[in-house]
Amino acid sequence: MLNWTIRIRSLMLLVGILISSTFGFAAEAPYASSAWWDGFWKTTDGWGKPNERVMSLFKSLDGSKKTITVVDIGSGNGRNSVLTLVELFATKDPESNYIIHCFDYSDLALLGLAGRTLPGWLEIVTVKADVNALTSIPNADLVLLYGILEYVEEQNLSRIFNVTSKAVNEGGFLVVVTLVDGEGALKISGEFTRSAEEYTRHLASISNLKFIDTPTVSLRPDRHDLGRGYAEDHLHYVFRTVLSSLFF
Ligand SMILES: C[S@@+](CC[C@H](N)C(=O)[O-])C[C@H]1O[C@@H](n2cnc3c(N)ncnc32)[C@H](O)[C@@H]1O
Repeated sequence: MLNWTIRIRSLMLLVGILISSTFGFAAEAPYASSAWWDGFWKTTDGWGKPNERVMSLFKSLDGSKKTITVVDIGSGNGRNSVLTLVELFATKDPESNYIIHCFDYSDLALLGLAGRTLPGWLEIVTVKADVNALTSIPNADLVLLYGILEYVEEQNLSRIFNVTSKAVNEGGFLVVVTLVDGEGALKISGEFTRSAEEYTRHLASISNLKFIDTPTVSLRPDRHDLGRGYAEDHLHYVFRTVLSSLFF
């Protein structure tokens, strides 16, 4: 009996060592901390393909002025800003120059962005910042709140909407994509999910912006580490909308 207990304990220890040596960040840092995200960006390429809707907004902005300014908050690897633009103009140069301000609190994400080889028409400014302490951002033609509101604490939500909406230039856009509550979605500790109605109410009260995409919610499958050191399949509800300073 004692022999079996020792064998089982040894096996558990071995599994523990294997998990923590493969996904060391998960064991060392609490889920959704900056250290955890450093580990995430060290080992993955994020969420793959850029978003088609963001690409269409770039298409409509291109050529409208000499330099288009973009702010990407919680940019990660720049999937929706840097990577989208580079893909959009892979075969022909844009009519405008672009400057993208990437805000993130993960050093690794920002290092990856700063180390990219860029075309002459694109400049990236990386800013290390905690979204919960953000009080100002540069004025921009496109502001992205894409996969970051889940990490904004309740008491900071109004300020983030205030700071971001005020920064949108005339003729510009605010993109909001975030996880929301819903039956069947996994509740993940470290993420602040709210109802779609709450987000819609907040956004509808912004006086200088109006919805150009009616908010939608869809149930989506995802697969990545959720803080236990291994990739897990899960479902979540994704809220999406675009607001514009142009009143149609
Ligand atoms: C879910 S990922 C989204 C990345 C990217 N926007 C995308 O859609 O592919 C969240 C990103 O926000 C960053 N992040 C999370 N909490 C943050 C916080 N409190 N302040 C600043 N950045 C944060 C993470 O480092 C990570 O890069």
